[in-house]
Amino acid sequence: MCGIVGYIGPREAYPILIEGLKKLEYRGYDSAGVAMLSPAGLKVEKAKGEIAVLETRVGNNVPPGSTGIGHTRWATHGAPSDINAHPHCGCSQEFAVVHNGIIENYLSLRQWLQEEGHRFSSETDTEVLAHLVEHYFTDDLLQAVSQAVKQVEGSFAMVAICEQERDKLVCARKDSPLVIGLGEGENYIASDVPAFLNRTRRIYILEDGELAVVTASVVQVFSANGRLVQKEINEVTWEAGEAEKGGYPHFMLKEIMEQPRALRDTTRGRLINEGRDINLAELALTPEQCRNIERIFIVACGTAYHAGLVGKYAMEKILRLPVEVDLASEFRYRDPLLDPNTLVLVISQSGETADTLAALRLARERGNPVLAITNVVGSSVAREAEKVLYTWAGPEIAVASTKAYLTQLLSLYMLTLYLGKQRGILDGQSLAEMGTALYRLPSQVESILGREAELREISDYLAPWESVFFVGRNVDYAVAMEGALKLKEISYIHAEAYASGELKHGTLALIVDGIPVIALATQGAVLDKSLSNIKEIKARCGHVICFAREGEINFAREVDRVFSLPAAPDIFMPILSVVPLQLLAYYTAVARACPVDKPRNLAKSVTVE
Ligand code: F6R
Repeated sequence: MCGIVGYIGPREAYPILIEGLKKLEYRGYDSAGVAMLSPAGLKVEKAKGEIAVLETRVGNNVPPGSTGIGHTRWATHGAPSDINAHPHCGCSQEFAVVHNGIIENYLSLRQWLQEEGHRFSSETDTEVLAHLVEHYFTDDLLQAVSQAVKQVEGSFAMVAICEQERDKLVCARKDSPLVIGLGEGENYIASDVPAFLNRTRRIYILEDGELAVVTASVVQVFSANGRLVQKEINEVTWEAGEAEKGGYPHFMLKEIMEQPRALRDTTRGRLINEGRDINLAELALTPEQCRNIERIFIVACGTAYHAGLVGKYAMEKILRLPVEVDLASEFRYRDPLLDPNTLVLVISQSGETADTLAALRLARERGNPVLAITNVVGSSVAREAEKVLYTWAGPEIAVASTKAYLTQLLSLYMLTLYLGKQRGILDGQSLAEMGTALYRLPSQVESILGREAELREISDYLAPWESVFFVGRNVDYAVAMEGALKLKEISYIHAEAYASGELKHGTLALIVDGIPVIALATQGAVLDKSLSNIKEIKARCGHVICFAREGEINFAREVDRVFSLPAAPDIFMPILSVVPLQLLAYYTAVARACPVDKPRNLAKSVTVE
């Protein structure tokens, strides 16, 4: 995720900004930049690539000055490039802004600003902020920022500097974190504490809607309606290593906990009016193109493949279109049957997986339209696919994919609803019902994340075993596969997923006294069948831990333990049922003292065959 650093004080700002940016490198980024208020005017230096590239470019021509802002960018709007890197300026090069988050209405703001005479140089959403600040500035930067952010829909943490008011940084936030570090005669701003942890541990945490004016000696925080806010000073007790992980012991746990934010970001500008409508205009698909699709082929690897399996159920159910899902490593060598009206959908968190890329190229060679769902702007998959739907999960650092998977599911659902709307299958009311259910999911995920104690207890039971089964029917089976993969890759327990109805065709022979069986039972249409399968397992003395919707059949009487899930439409339940399975895998791996973030033999991005 992007990183923000700001400094104001008596010292040269450039080395402090660079040091702060380096401390935020763990967040992932693809370009970096700084803006300094130098005696000769506002100086901006930025470069695609690592911070070292920026440093080399600046060389000995370090811009002097003791007020500045810096940024590491993780591309969302516009590919990684020098021009798209932050900071961004208005037309006059007198204002510079760094920003984290997503501005949902940037296209309409950009158009309006262009009509007002503003000239844009980048493809980013952030640049509208710089022009808005410039547009509203008369003689007070706080006033200008305050007016600018009032026009912005979406999420932002931003810092602005300007030539005319050289003694201050002005910052604001909504739905994206920002902290102010309090020094002696100097102050700092950052998206994340590690940026300045070696300099101060005393911080103000900015709340949503708040703005602040930061000078070398004073920090004033204001509410959205301009009232001065009395802030409490927080003392950071974490060490730097922990702080990088937001205080969590592992990136995987941090990323699991970030999922509500990742989901919300992925819906931004897409689920309109709290989900009552949907807009994926970014795909530039005409209604005719949507109607011409006769079949969908989903291709991916690993966890992304499991997301595709869930997508198949949703698409076939809602769109009544045949959907095939294939592993990219199989697809590329099996001469797949692709009719011209088959849409090929590739899913890849990294956008660099060699097999997925080869599958994409094969589909393009055959002349099929290819739509990619990926998390990395400017990745090979994003560049080579015809259309891209980005997941906005932010960088995923732990090898085991969690937040990317959840946002892949959400993207598949949104795509399904969008195609349903464009193909005239979903009327306004059905679309609104499903859209609002999707819109509620992030809060429901939040409620599950608060129940880690229950999951820890279950993981205590799993940890000593060398074999665990996951069973489910329908879309629960697809989630069982993902749950099993998570457990095996990080805890090294052999975990096998089975379609519940298949147990009696072989696997039941492996059910022995006490063996853990994770049973998913969230699908209304097959609930009775799932219960019968659970009874088959119980009759062989398997230890059944059931994940079911709250208030449905009284599973508690039938199984050893129930974890109840909030209610959502059947087809969306995977977003809720997989979260406890991720946590279960995590706590089990911790109990077995496994290296959670970097499991043996595995790499985050599989760029070789
Ligand atoms: C498992 C996991 C992998 C990836 C797979 C595809 O937790 O992360 O199975 O899902 O290697 O990677 P991407 O999505 O980058 O193509």
